[in-house]
Amino acid sequence: MIHFKDVSFAYKEGKWAVRHINFTVNKGEFVSIIGGNGSGKSTIARLSDGLLLPQEGSVFVDEINSRAKKDEFFIKEKVGIVFQNPDNQFVGTTVEEDIAFGLENIGVERVEAKARIEQISSLLGIDKYLHGSPSYLSGGEKQKVAIASVLVMQPDYLVMDEITALLDPVSRKEVLNLVHSIAENKNIGVLYITHITEEVIKSDKVLVLHKGEKIKEGAPAVILQDMKLLRSAGVASLPSVIISEDLRKHGIISASFVDEEDLIGSLCSN
Ligand SMILES: Nc1ncnc2c1ncn2[C@@H]1O[C@H](COP(=O)(O)OP(=O)(O)O)[C@@H](O)[C@H]1O
Ligand SMILES: [Mg+2]
Repeated sequence: MIHFKDVSFAYKEGKWAVRHINFTVNKGEFVSIIGGNGSGKSTIARLSDGLLLPQEGSVFVDEINSRAKKDEFFIKEKVGIVFQNPDNQFVGTTVEEDIAFGLENIGVERVEAKARIEQISSLLGIDKYLHGSPSYLSGGEKQKVAIASVLVMQPDYLVMDEITALLDPVSRKEVLNLVHSIAENKNIGVLYITHITEEVIKSDKVLVLHKGEKIKEGAPAVILQDMKLLRSAGVASLPSVIISEDLRKHGIISASFVDEEDLIGSLCSN
């Protein structure tokens, strides 16, 4: 379990970037954080694997406090992070070298490394690019390489910090679906950070972040219906909910719908 216990962090004294943050991510659970620019999302990502240490409160990964110096590598091995810009994450001249980089660092044998790389690459559909250069790949493919580099390390938790922000809508959906299916298959706990509302629909729970504070936590169906809450957090509401609300005001339907299909179903049965 990743456990944030009353965590506060400031880059500069007196200016909290995140304040009194509490939440947990269990293995196999998909937890999303949604919030606008500067709400503290990336700070939480960096706190989750010990890249940053809190000034107040504690972060635990499977009961280990991120402040425990001797367990630094234990935590870094358990928690894999993927960031927004895949270009900043490339180090090798071929895709395969890139994915192998972390494995070499922890001394995984060549044969074992090769097997892991092949398995994960075919899972992500990037096996055909292994011997080419990462610089010729599209944004979506690059992000899949970045995800593969993290997955070959066999982490128990994945932290994804706006990984689809630079992708087109089609690759965005594809990458998100891949993360969902891999997390499910491998029983990985995911902390999925985004400012794109529709991406949190399939989460187990959603945390809404505003000015460094968690202003709400709940099931996606509940959070996504709350247009006022989302507006105050500086993120967009779903078109289906906006339309539902309008139709409800006009007495055309009696409830609001997160799922477009449900909205259409309700209109057709009227
Ligand atoms: N390296 C840094 N040095 C100083 N302040 C920072 C740094 N990174 C982020 N901040 C500040 O911390 C707050 C939270 O930022 P961040 O966690 O990056 O938010 P988000 O990822 O939601 O955009 C913002 O006020 C931001 O300006
Ligand atoms: Mg950020």
